[in-house]
Amino acid sequence: KKISIIGVPMDLGQTRRGVDMGPSAIRYAGVVERLERLSYDIEDLGDISIGKPERIDEEGIKSNLRNLKAVAEANEKLAQAVDEVIKKGHFPLVLGGDHSIAIGTLAGVAKHYKNLGVIWYDAHGDLNTAETSPSGNIHGMPLAASLGFGHQALTAIGGYSPKVKPENIVLIGARALDEGEKQFIREKGIRVYTMHEVDRLGMTKVMEETIAYLKERTDGVHLSLDLDGLDPHDAPGVGTPVIGGLTYRESHLAMEMLAEAQLITSAEFVEVNPILDERNKTASVAVALMGSLFGEKLV
Ligand code: ARG
Ligand code: MN
Ligand code: MN
Ligand code: MN
Repeated sequence: KKISIIGVPMDLGQTRRGVDMGPSAIRYAGVVERLERLSYDIEDLGDISIGKPERIDEEGIKSNLRNLKAVAEANEKLAQAVDEVIKKGHFPLVLGGDHSIAIGTLAGVAKHYKNLGVIWYDAHGDLNTAETSPSGNIHGMPLAASLGFGHQALTAIGGYSPKVKPENIVLIGARALDEGEKQFIREKGIRVYTMHEVDRLGMTKVMEETIAYLKERTDGVHLSLDLDGLDPHDAPGVGTPVIGGLTYRESHLAMEMLAEAQLITSAEFVEVNPILDERNKTASVAVALMGSLFGEKLV
């Protein structure tokens, strides 16, 4: 039982300062100690180095892809690091950083599976391309890129595309989808539990269905957990908070059910921004959720 932690101090996929300090905040909140207590062997590989933002990002403005080059470069490095972790037989646990890093994580993970499943726990779909993005922020595009849609500097990370198939993805907690994303979801038939379904069915049913669905069609499942999937009341330290989100308890339940099902083979926790946080609350929530994901029990 070995877990390798990779920090990715990425903030170039969006415009709020501070999310590059996410990995430090999560370490400060005690991630290593928390998982060691569950008798895992933890290896902290430190942080991937991130380039500088363009001083005058003419290319980014023109193409609606802010800091494209630096984001792509960092993701290439991350893909390499994740690949090596899996080759050693360790579980890769990636700490963000903004959600653009999912491109690199998935590039490192997906080549090891025939049919990788992905749980996208997020207020957003992150299914934009430069053509549909209202912001030009790449953290709103990683799932589309992993499906093979968008600029080829993003889709080709790791040297292959696509990383995942639309039918192997489950979105949970969605409540802020752009028009282009909604259309994309309908076209591709991506499975989505919006807040409406979570309210109607309850988290127990949502997770039972998600687990059953992915278990029968995939040979590994990556959890990509954006802390803004949670309600801002429980996770205030995020750059794009959306009211009406998943609660702390619902999220723990989801992680506990995933642990019980032994479904998850890699994970990332992203968008923790300590500058926008209240006394490192969001990083602490992230660490608590990791505890549940890795099998922590109340009794
Ligand atoms: N949909 C919006 C955009 O594309 C917000 C994306 C937020 N993504 C995130 N990972 N927090 O700009
Ligand atoms: Mn080893
Ligand atoms: Mn989000
Ligand atoms: Mn996201």
